[in-house]
Amino acid sequence: MNAARSKNKEFLTLLGIETSCDETAAAIIRGPAQDDAMGREVQEPILANIIHSQFADHADYGGVVPEIAARAHVERVDSIIEQALDEAKCTMADIDAIAVTAGPGLVGGVMVGLTTAKAISLSHAIPLIPVNHLAAHALTVRMVENIAFPFLVLLVSGGHTQLLWVESATRFRRLGTTIDDAAGEAFDKIAQLLGLPSPGGPNLEALAHTGRTDRFAMPRPLHKREGCDFSFSGLKTATRLLLEQGVEEGDNHQLRADIAASFQQAAADHLAARTKAALTACEALLGGQNAPRQLVIAGGVAANMTVKTTLQAMAETHDWRLIVPPAKLCTDNGAMIAWAGLEMIRADAVPPAEQAMALAARPRWPLDNNPEGPRHGGGRKGPKA
Ligand code: KG4
Ligand code: ZN
Repeated sequence: MNAARSKNKEFLTLLGIETSCDETAAAIIRGPAQDDAMGREVQEPILANIIHSQFADHADYGGVVPEIAARAHVERVDSIIEQALDEAKCTMADIDAIAVTAGPGLVGGVMVGLTTAKAISLSHAIPLIPVNHLAAHALTVRMVENIAFPFLVLLVSGGHTQLLWVESATRFRRLGTTIDDAAGEAFDKIAQLLGLPSPGGPNLEALAHTGRTDRFAMPRPLHKREGCDFSFSGLKTATRLLLEQGVEEGDNHQLRADIAASFQQAAADHLAARTKAALTACEALLGGQNAPRQLVIAGGVAANMTVKTTLQAMAETHDWRLIVPPAKLCTDNGAMIAWAGLEMIRADAVPPAEQAMALAARPRWPLDNNPEGPRHGGGRKGPKA
């Protein structure tokens, strides 16, 4: 980035803005301008990370309503940015660059963040960095861990379930994706069937704590199919049928807890089985190099303890190191967007100002440099990305 403000600085301060789904978020980070990952002691770069979740706005509708989400972002984004600046004890004069989610996500929400960022960029003459939300999830780990490229990311969020081989801040190779629902979407739908309130995933995990995982035999999705793709619709149907049969026999708390636990373990086993196939593919990509074998889980579902322990056991068996960023950085937040912006500066991948200013919100934006393109329409089915 050739902006006068950031020239020759050792540390850069970035504002990050996220509005692609149902969190209005802004953060200020301050991090090293150069990537010296292997020699560096990682210092906490987050000065402020303000998140407003819109759970209450959508509670009556059983899912995120795009129009309500966009309106709520409009109402709150300015004050969230002000709060972030206040908490970081910064003014706009301290900000070297503004990173903003430009997609993928709900187009109305993305437009709110992008327009806000463009306005601040113009009025304060601060460079603008459009960020891919999925890239931000995938790169988050480097904000808190000293981990060099390449690494494998299992990205499990409300809108995506993908395995990405991350070669640099700008090069991602997609090894697998979901052929139907995303993992988080499946957790949310099962939680709804179980009568649990939003947010579905964490509430299902809480209910599953008191349940048995071995009471019901669950299907093993795609177990006859090679490769790294995922499927959750069979698990969802099996769980719904169990619930319907159980309710006929008389609803009770233990039954619901056992169903929640069985589904959760089956989903975790499925994620682990497909990730195991990806490890083999990555070994081939590494071609015998003595590079560290590093597996990262990112996205909201990475907060799930059963998913983490199941993946940990699988990774250990294959001599891969598992790294999971703290849960508060796995779900949508502004710090991950700011961090992705910093990574783009370091990689000299910031588009020229005119191009950034002209950029439209991108509801779909596959994160893949594969010339063949996505095999299953990007793997995005739910409202979240
Ligand atoms: O990454 P995220 O905040 O938003 C995007 O989708 O981009 O992920 C949200 C998803 C939701 O589906 C939520 O239910 C799920 O992550 N999630 C969980 C847990 N915490 C969040 N799923 C299972 N267990 C959890 N503890
Ligand atoms: Zn996300």
